[in-house]
Amino acid sequence: MSTMTNAAMAATNTLAEPRVKGLLDRLHGEAWGSGQILPFARFALEMGLDRVLGRTPTSQEESDRARDIYMCLGPDQGRLAYLLARSNGARRIVEFGTSFGVSTIYLAAAVRDNGGGVVIGSELEPSKAARARMHWEEAGLSDVIDLREGDALQTLRDPGGNIDVLLLDGWKELYIPVFDMLLPHLRVGSVVVADNTRMFRTSLAPYLERVRDPQSGFVSASVPAGYDAMEVSVRL
Ligand SMILES: C[S@@+](CC[C@H](N)C(=O)[O-])C[C@H]1O[C@@H](n2cnc3c(N)ncnc32)[C@H](O)[C@@H]1O
Repeated sequence: MSTMTNAAMAATNTLAEPRVKGLLDRLHGEAWGSGQILPFARFALEMGLDRVLGRTPTSQEESDRARDIYMCLGPDQGRLAYLLARSNGARRIVEFGTSFGVSTIYLAAAVRDNGGGVVIGSELEPSKAARARMHWEEAGLSDVIDLREGDALQTLRDPGGNIDVLLLDGWKELYIPVFDMLLPHLRVGSVVVADNTRMFRTSLAPYLERVRDPQSGFVSASVPAGYDAMEVSVRL
């Protein structure tokens, strides 16, 4: 590869743009700030109460309860998602679980730096979707993002073409249904990134068993990132 090409590639790092970097620093700060303590405590309490009462909340109920909580990828996880998407030249990325749009910023930066394309996001909670859109406007990345509001099991049915990267980061019991639904669209060499595999090791055990099965058509590895771990699986 010539020096000229290297120089041109070095210039295309959207994550280093001041407005993108400044926004991500601010959002990561808010995600770990004192403003999240009360909403998170309330969320944990309600989920704990459900468990005691033997009740299973619907996805919509969980999303309503989590409407003020970021629950976003940390900076290391975000950069990992970015570099995986850069490595396989992703032009079409699907994200299950968008929240305030932090992970989407990393993915959209990768798509832009790969020469353009689309990140298809999904979010159940309308107020989160509205805030995510504001963040993307601020980052100057709205033009490469297609946010689909509503239940991802409906809205992501048709991704509009082959998928290069899939990020699973919504409610954990839906990783397998979303993965199964999108499997026919995952091209050879595509990457599936599943977040929170350490924190939710019990509920995600069936998903891990699935992608680690030698017959699955994937090669899969656990990658420690930030405070948690992500399962990275490549389609053979
Ligand atoms: C962990 S957060 C996502 C964080 C985001 N990926 C980030 O890093 O910024 C999970 C989000 O998934 C959304 N979600 C859960 N189930 C969903 C579903 N069935 N369809 C669409 N969104 C869903 C929740 O409302 C919540 O905002």
